[in-house]
Amino acid sequence: MRPINVFEYEALAQERLHPAVWDYYSDGANDTVTLRENRAAFERIRLRPRVLVDVTSIDMATTLLGSPVAMPICIAPSAIHGAACEDGECATARAAGALGTLMAASTESTRTMEEIAQAATGPLWFQLYFSSHTRAHAERLIRRAEVAGYRAIALTVDSSRWGQKERHARSDATFDWPLTGNFIRDPLPSAIDGAADGAAITWNDVDWLRSITSLPLVLKGILTAEDASLCAERGIDGVLVSNHGGRQLDTVAATIDALPEVAEAVAGRCEVYLDGGVRRGTDVLKALALGARAVFVGRAVLWGLSVAGAEGAQHVLELLRDELATAMALAGRPTLASIDGSVVQRPLRR
Ligand code: FNR
Repeated sequence: MRPINVFEYEALAQERLHPAVWDYYSDGANDTVTLRENRAAFERIRLRPRVLVDVTSIDMATTLLGSPVAMPICIAPSAIHGAACEDGECATARAAGALGTLMAASTESTRTMEEIAQAATGPLWFQLYFSSHTRAHAERLIRRAEVAGYRAIALTVDSSRWGQKERHARSDATFDWPLTGNFIRDPLPSAIDGAADGAAITWNDVDWLRSITSLPLVLKGILTAEDASLCAERGIDGVLVSNHGGRQLDTVAATIDALPEVAEAVAGRCEVYLDGGVRRGTDVLKALALGARAVFVGRAVLWGLSVAGAEGAQHVLELLRDELATAMALAGRPTLASIDGSVVQRPLRR
Protein backbone atom coordinates (compact mmCIF):
# COMPACT_ATOMS: atom_id res chain seq x y z
CA MET A 1 0.00 0.00 0.00
CA ARG A 2 1.22 3.49 -0.86
CA PRO A 3 2.20 5.52 2.22
CA ILE A 4 -0.25 8.30 3.09
CA ASN A 5 2.01 10.45 5.24
CA VAL A 6 5.65 11.14 6.05
CA PHE A 7 5.61 8.91 9.13
CA GLU A 8 4.61 5.88 7.05
CA TYR A 9 7.53 6.65 4.73
CA GLU A 10 9.81 6.82 7.77
CA ALA A 11 8.72 3.36 8.98
CA LEU A 12 9.21 1.85 5.51
CA ALA A 13 12.61 3.52 5.16
CA GLN A 14 13.75 1.95 8.40
CA GLU A 15 12.73 -1.48 7.09
CA ARG A 16 14.55 -1.01 3.79
CA LEU A 17 17.77 0.76 4.68
CA HIS A 18 21.01 -0.84 5.84
CA PRO A 19 21.01 -0.33 9.64
CA ALA A 20 24.10 1.92 9.46
CA VAL A 21 22.43 4.17 6.89
CA TRP A 22 19.24 4.29 8.95
CA ASP A 23 21.31 5.25 12.00
CA TYR A 24 23.17 7.98 10.09
CA TYR A 25 20.03 9.51 8.60
CA SER A 26 17.80 9.27 11.66
CA ASP A 27 20.17 9.97 14.54
CA GLY A 28 20.50 13.17 16.56
CA ALA A 29 23.31 14.37 18.80
CA ASN A 30 23.88 12.82 22.23
CA ASP A 31 20.57 12.36 24.10
CA THR A 32 18.55 13.52 21.03
CA VAL A 33 16.72 16.09 23.17
CA THR A 34 16.71 18.67 20.36
CA LEU A 35 15.83 16.06 17.74
CA ARG A 36 12.67 15.20 19.68
CA GLU A 37 11.98 18.80 20.67
CA ASN A 38 11.83 19.88 17.00
CA ARG A 39 8.71 17.69 16.69
CA ALA A 40 7.29 18.27 20.17
CA ALA A 41 7.39 22.06 19.77
CA PHE A 42 5.38 21.92 16.54
CA GLU A 43 2.85 19.66 18.26
CA ARG A 44 2.46 22.09 21.19
CA ILE A 45 1.36 24.98 19.00
CA ARG A 46 -2.39 25.43 18.52
CA LEU A 47 -3.96 27.03 15.45
CA ARG A 48 -6.59 29.78 15.32
CA PRO A 49 -8.69 29.13 12.21
CA ARG A 50 -10.85 31.79 10.56
CA VAL A 51 -14.06 30.49 8.99
CA LEU A 52 -16.38 31.55 6.19
CA VAL A 53 -13.46 32.79 4.13
CA ASP A 54 -13.48 32.05 0.38
CA VAL A 55 -10.89 29.29 0.05
CA THR A 56 -11.91 28.05 -3.40
CA SER A 57 -8.41 28.70 -4.66
CA ILE A 58 -5.26 28.22 -2.61
CA ASP A 59 -2.16 30.10 -3.76
CA MET A 60 1.17 29.04 -2.26
CA ALA A 61 3.58 30.18 -4.98
CA THR A 62 6.34 32.51 -3.82
CA THR A 63 9.91 33.56 -4.57
CA LEU A 64 13.13 32.75 -2.71
CA LEU A 65 15.88 35.33 -3.26
CA GLY A 66 14.14 36.12 -6.53
CA SER A 67 13.69 32.56 -7.79
CA PRO A 68 10.05 31.59 -8.27
CA VAL A 69 8.89 28.40 -6.51
CA ALA A 70 5.47 26.75 -6.64
CA MET A 71 5.33 26.21 -2.88
CA PRO A 72 7.15 27.34 0.27
CA ILE A 73 8.49 23.82 0.92
CA CYS A 74 12.05 23.16 -0.23
CA ILE A 75 14.67 20.47 0.16
CA ALA A 76 17.28 20.93 2.88
CA PRO A 77 20.88 20.02 2.08
CA SER A 78 21.74 16.57 3.37
CA ALA A 79 24.76 14.42 2.68
CA ILE A 80 25.11 11.13 0.82
CA HIS A 81 21.77 10.53 -0.91
CA GLY A 82 23.62 7.77 -2.76
CA ALA A 83 23.13 5.58 0.31
CA ALA A 84 19.35 5.92 -0.11
CA CYS A 85 19.06 5.24 -3.83
CA GLU A 86 21.24 4.66 -6.87
CA ASP A 87 20.74 8.07 -8.49
CA GLY A 88 21.38 9.88 -5.21
CA GLU A 89 20.91 13.64 -5.37
CA CYS A 90 20.00 13.50 -9.08
CA ALA A 91 16.81 11.67 -8.06
CA THR A 92 16.16 14.28 -5.37
CA ALA A 93 16.66 17.10 -7.87
CA ARG A 94 14.16 15.52 -10.26
CA ALA A 95 11.62 15.30 -7.43
CA ALA A 96 12.11 18.97 -6.54
CA GLY A 97 11.76 19.93 -10.19
CA ALA A 98 8.51 17.97 -10.54
CA LEU A 99 7.03 20.04 -7.72
CA GLY A 100 8.48 23.32 -9.00
CA THR A 101 10.50 23.81 -5.86
CA LEU A 102 14.04 24.51 -4.75
CA MET A 103 16.71 22.06 -3.64
CA ALA A 104 19.79 22.95 -1.62
CA ALA A 105 22.54 20.49 -2.57
CA SER A 106 25.07 19.55 0.11
CA THR A 107 28.83 19.92 -0.30
CA GLU A 108 28.86 16.26 0.72
CA SER A 109 26.52 15.03 -2.01
CA THR A 110 27.29 11.68 -3.55
CA ARG A 111 26.72 13.05 -7.06
CA THR A 112 28.67 16.09 -8.24
CA MET A 113 27.03 19.50 -8.25
CA GLU A 114 27.24 19.48 -12.07
CA GLU A 115 25.36 16.16 -12.31
CA ILE A 116 22.71 17.49 -9.92
CA ALA A 117 22.33 20.67 -12.00
CA GLN A 118 21.85 18.51 -15.12
CA ALA A 119 19.01 16.62 -13.44
CA ALA A 120 17.36 19.68 -11.91
CA THR A 121 14.51 21.66 -13.46
CA GLY A 122 13.92 23.84 -10.38
CA PRO A 123 16.27 26.34 -8.72
CA LEU A 124 19.31 25.06 -6.82
CA TRP A 125 21.34 26.42 -3.94
CA PHE A 126 24.81 25.11 -3.09
CA GLN A 127 25.35 24.35 0.61
CA LEU A 128 28.93 25.02 1.62
CA TYR A 129 31.08 23.61 4.39
CA PHE A 130 34.56 24.97 4.76
CA SER A 131 37.15 25.94 7.35
CA SER A 132 39.71 28.75 7.49
CA HIS A 133 42.25 26.18 6.25
CA THR A 134 40.23 25.34 3.17
CA ARG A 135 39.38 28.75 1.69
CA ALA A 136 41.09 27.95 -1.62
CA HIS A 137 39.17 24.69 -1.87
CA ALA A 138 35.91 26.48 -1.00
CA GLU A 139 36.58 29.04 -3.72
CA ARG A 140 36.97 26.28 -6.30
CA LEU A 141 33.63 24.79 -5.25
CA ILE A 142 31.95 28.21 -5.46
CA ARG A 143 33.30 28.85 -8.96
CA ARG A 144 31.89 25.48 -10.01
CA ALA A 145 28.51 26.34 -8.45
CA GLU A 146 28.46 29.67 -10.30
CA VAL A 147 29.21 27.98 -13.63
CA ALA A 148 26.64 25.22 -13.00
CA GLY A 149 23.87 27.79 -12.41
CA TYR A 150 23.33 27.56 -8.65
CA ARG A 151 21.34 30.58 -7.44
CA ALA A 152 22.79 31.04 -3.94
CA ILE A 153 25.40 29.77 -1.50
CA ALA A 154 24.03 28.46 1.80
CA LEU A 155 26.90 28.52 4.26
CA THR A 156 26.38 26.16 7.19
CA VAL A 157 27.55 27.92 10.36
CA ASP A 158 26.59 25.46 13.11
CA SER A 159 29.34 22.91 12.45
CA SER A 160 32.63 24.10 13.95
CA ARG A 161 32.90 20.48 15.07
CA TRP A 162 30.69 17.51 14.29
CA GLY A 163 27.99 16.80 16.84
CA GLN A 164 28.24 13.38 18.45
CA LYS A 165 25.67 11.10 16.90
CA GLU A 166 26.17 8.11 19.13
CA ARG A 167 24.01 5.48 17.42
CA HIS A 168 25.68 6.45 14.16
CA ALA A 169 29.15 6.23 15.74
CA ARG A 170 28.45 2.63 16.78
CA SER A 171 27.30 1.39 13.36
CA ASP A 172 29.21 3.71 10.97
CA ALA A 173 31.96 1.25 10.03
CA THR A 174 29.52 -1.50 9.06
CA PHE A 175 28.65 0.22 5.76
CA ASP A 176 30.77 1.03 2.73
CA TRP A 177 29.83 4.70 2.23
CA PRO A 178 29.89 6.16 -1.28
CA LEU A 179 32.37 8.96 -1.99
CA THR A 180 31.62 12.69 -1.91
CA GLY A 181 31.18 13.48 -5.62
CA ASN A 182 32.34 17.10 -5.41
CA PHE A 183 35.66 16.08 -3.90
CA ILE A 184 36.62 13.75 -6.74
CA ARG A 185 37.64 16.70 -8.95
CA ASP A 186 38.60 18.92 -6.01
CA PRO A 187 40.02 16.71 -3.26
CA LEU A 188 40.16 18.22 0.19
CA PRO A 189 43.72 18.81 1.40
CA SER A 190 44.67 15.57 3.17
CA ALA A 191 43.97 15.21 6.89
CA ILE A 192 41.36 17.98 6.74
CA ASP A 193 37.76 17.08 7.46
CA GLY A 194 35.77 19.84 5.75
CA ALA A 195 34.09 22.11 8.24
CA ALA A 196 35.28 20.40 11.35
CA ASP A 197 39.06 20.43 11.03
CA GLY A 198 39.78 22.59 14.07
CA ALA A 199 40.01 25.85 12.08
CA ALA A 200 36.36 26.75 12.37
CA ILE A 201 35.11 29.69 10.37
CA THR A 202 34.32 33.07 11.94
CA TRP A 203 32.70 36.28 10.69
CA ASN A 204 36.01 37.04 8.92
CA ASP A 205 35.48 34.02 6.72
CA VAL A 206 31.90 35.09 6.03
CA ASP A 207 33.16 38.52 4.95
CA TRP A 208 35.74 36.81 2.73
CA LEU A 209 33.04 34.66 1.18
CA ARG A 210 30.86 37.73 0.62
CA SER A 211 33.79 39.41 -1.15
CA ILE A 212 34.57 36.59 -3.60
CA THR A 213 31.11 35.85 -5.04
CA SER A 214 28.17 37.89 -6.18
CA LEU A 215 25.77 35.00 -5.55
CA PRO A 216 23.29 35.66 -2.73
CA LEU A 217 24.51 34.33 0.63
CA VAL A 218 22.35 32.42 3.12
CA LEU A 219 23.62 31.51 6.59
CA LYS A 220 22.25 28.17 7.75
CA GLY A 221 22.15 27.45 11.46
CA ILE A 222 21.12 30.76 13.02
CA LEU A 223 19.20 30.34 16.29
CA THR A 224 19.43 33.68 18.13
CA ALA A 225 18.34 37.29 17.68
CA GLU A 226 21.96 38.39 18.25
CA ASP A 227 23.35 36.41 15.32
CA ALA A 228 20.33 37.24 13.16
CA SER A 229 21.03 40.96 13.67
CA LEU A 230 24.69 40.47 12.71
CA CYS A 231 23.56 38.71 9.52
CA ALA A 232 21.27 41.57 8.59
CA GLU A 233 23.95 44.18 9.37
CA ARG A 234 26.52 42.35 7.23
CA GLY A 235 24.34 42.17 4.15
CA ILE A 236 23.51 38.47 4.33
CA ASP A 237 20.60 37.75 1.99
CA GLY A 238 18.88 35.00 3.94
CA VAL A 239 19.01 33.26 7.32
CA LEU A 240 17.96 29.67 7.75
CA VAL A 241 16.84 28.99 11.32
CA SER A 242 18.21 25.50 11.83
CA ASN A 243 19.67 23.26 14.49
CA HIS A 244 20.86 20.81 11.84
CA GLY A 245 17.92 18.52 12.56
CA GLY A 246 19.10 18.10 16.17
CA ARG A 247 22.44 16.68 14.99
CA GLN A 248 24.87 19.29 16.31
CA LEU A 249 24.54 20.96 19.76
CA ASP A 250 22.09 18.90 21.77
CA THR A 251 19.55 20.68 23.99
CA VAL A 252 19.30 23.83 21.86
CA ALA A 253 15.74 25.02 21.29
CA ALA A 254 13.41 23.64 18.67
CA THR A 255 13.68 25.72 15.53
CA ILE A 256 9.99 26.71 15.64
CA ASP A 257 10.65 28.17 19.12
CA ALA A 258 13.77 30.04 17.94
CA LEU A 259 12.09 31.40 14.82
CA PRO A 260 10.11 34.32 16.37
CA GLU A 261 13.18 36.01 17.89
CA VAL A 262 15.13 35.63 14.64
CA ALA A 263 12.27 36.99 12.52
CA GLU A 264 11.84 39.91 14.90
CA ALA A 265 15.56 40.79 14.93
CA VAL A 266 15.84 40.62 11.14
CA ALA A 267 12.72 42.78 10.76
CA GLY A 268 12.42 42.20 7.02
CA ARG A 269 16.06 43.08 6.22
CA CYS A 270 16.67 39.62 4.75
CA GLU A 271 14.66 36.49 4.04
CA VAL A 272 14.08 34.04 6.90
CA TYR A 273 13.56 30.29 6.52
CA LEU A 274 13.26 27.35 8.90
CA ASP A 275 14.16 23.68 8.91
CA GLY A 276 13.92 20.97 11.56
CA GLY A 277 11.11 18.56 12.31
CA VAL A 278 8.82 19.52 9.43
CA ARG A 279 6.65 16.46 8.81
CA ARG A 280 3.12 17.90 8.31
CA GLY A 281 1.40 20.64 6.35
CA THR A 282 0.34 22.23 9.64
CA ASP A 283 4.04 22.48 10.61
CA VAL A 284 4.63 24.53 7.47
CA LEU A 285 1.64 26.76 8.23
CA LYS A 286 2.97 27.39 11.77
CA ALA A 287 6.44 28.28 10.48
CA LEU A 288 5.00 30.71 7.94
CA ALA A 289 2.82 32.24 10.67
CA LEU A 290 5.85 32.81 12.90
CA GLY A 291 7.94 34.56 10.27
CA ALA A 292 9.44 32.02 7.84
CA ARG A 293 9.18 32.68 4.12
CA ALA A 294 9.64 28.97 3.41
CA VAL A 295 10.61 25.75 5.14
CA PHE A 296 13.20 23.15 4.19
CA VAL A 297 12.77 19.43 4.76
CA GLY A 298 15.66 17.07 5.41
CA ARG A 299 14.77 13.60 6.62
CA ALA A 300 11.24 13.49 5.16
CA VAL A 301 12.74 13.62 1.68
CA LEU A 302 15.40 11.04 2.59
CA TRP A 303 12.62 8.65 3.68
CA GLY A 304 10.84 9.05 0.33
CA LEU A 305 14.11 8.59 -1.52
CA SER A 306 14.94 5.45 0.47
CA VAL A 307 11.56 3.86 -0.19
CA ALA A 308 11.08 4.66 -3.88
CA GLY A 309 13.86 6.87 -5.27
CA ALA A 310 12.83 10.02 -7.14
CA GLU A 311 9.19 8.90 -7.15
CA GLY A 312 9.18 8.47 -3.38
CA ALA A 313 10.83 11.86 -2.78
CA GLN A 314 8.32 13.43 -5.15
CA HIS A 315 5.41 11.78 -3.35
CA VAL A 316 6.65 13.06 0.03
CA LEU A 317 6.73 16.59 -1.38
CA GLU A 318 3.23 16.12 -2.83
CA LEU A 319 1.92 14.91 0.53
CA LEU A 320 3.37 17.97 2.28
CA ARG A 321 2.05 20.32 -0.42
CA ASP A 322 -1.46 18.81 -0.24
CA GLU A 323 -1.46 18.88 3.57
CA LEU A 324 -0.42 22.55 3.48
CA ALA A 325 -3.23 23.33 1.02
CA THR A 326 -5.74 21.64 3.34
CA ALA A 327 -4.34 23.45 6.38
CA MET A 328 -4.50 26.83 4.59
CA ALA A 329 -8.10 26.19 3.53
CA LEU A 330 -9.27 24.98 6.95
CA ALA A 331 -7.48 27.88 8.67
CA GLY A 332 -9.17 30.35 6.32
CA ARG A 333 -5.84 31.59 4.92
CA PRO A 334 -5.94 30.91 1.17
CA THR A 335 -2.86 32.99 0.30
CA LEU A 336 0.62 33.29 1.81
CA ALA A 337 -0.04 37.00 2.41
CA SER A 338 -3.01 36.09 4.64
CA ILE A 339 -0.81 33.98 6.95
CA ASP A 340 0.39 36.04 9.92
CA GLY A 341 0.99 35.66 13.65
CA SER A 342 -2.75 35.51 14.34
CA VAL A 343 -2.79 31.96 12.89
CA VAL A 344 -1.21 30.60 16.11
CA GLN A 345 -2.18 30.91 19.76
CA ARG A 346 0.15 32.82 22.03
CA PRO A 347 1.86 32.48 24.41
CA LEU A 348 3.54 29.59 22.66
CA ARG A 349 5.02 28.05 25.79
CA ARG A 350 2.91 26.75 28.64
C1 FNR B 1 21.81 16.82 7.36
N1 FNR B 1 21.96 18.20 7.42
C2 FNR B 1 22.97 18.80 6.69
N2 FNR B 1 23.10 20.15 6.68
C3 FNR B 1 24.06 20.74 5.93
O1 FNR B 1 24.14 21.97 5.95
N3 FNR B 1 24.92 20.00 5.18
C4 FNR B 1 24.86 18.64 5.15
O2 FNR B 1 25.63 17.98 4.45
C5 FNR B 1 23.89 18.00 5.96
N4 FNR B 1 23.82 16.64 5.99
C6 FNR B 1 22.77 16.03 6.66
C7 FNR B 1 22.64 14.65 6.60
C8 FNR B 1 21.54 14.05 7.19
C9 FNR B 1 21.40 12.56 7.11
C10 FNR B 1 20.57 14.83 7.86
C11 FNR B 1 19.35 14.19 8.49
C12 FNR B 1 20.71 16.19 7.95
C13 FNR B 1 20.97 19.04 8.11
C14 FNR B 1 19.81 19.40 7.20
O3 FNR B 1 20.19 20.37 6.24
C15 FNR B 1 18.63 20.01 7.97
O4 FNR B 1 19.09 21.07 8.77
C16 FNR B 1 17.87 19.00 8.84
O5 FNR B 1 17.82 17.74 8.22
C17 FNR B 1 16.45 19.50 9.09
O6 FNR B 1 15.78 18.66 9.96
P1 FNR B 1 14.78 17.48 9.49
O7 FNR B 1 13.92 18.02 8.37
O8 FNR B 1 15.64 16.36 9.06
O9 FNR B 1 14.01 17.19 10.73
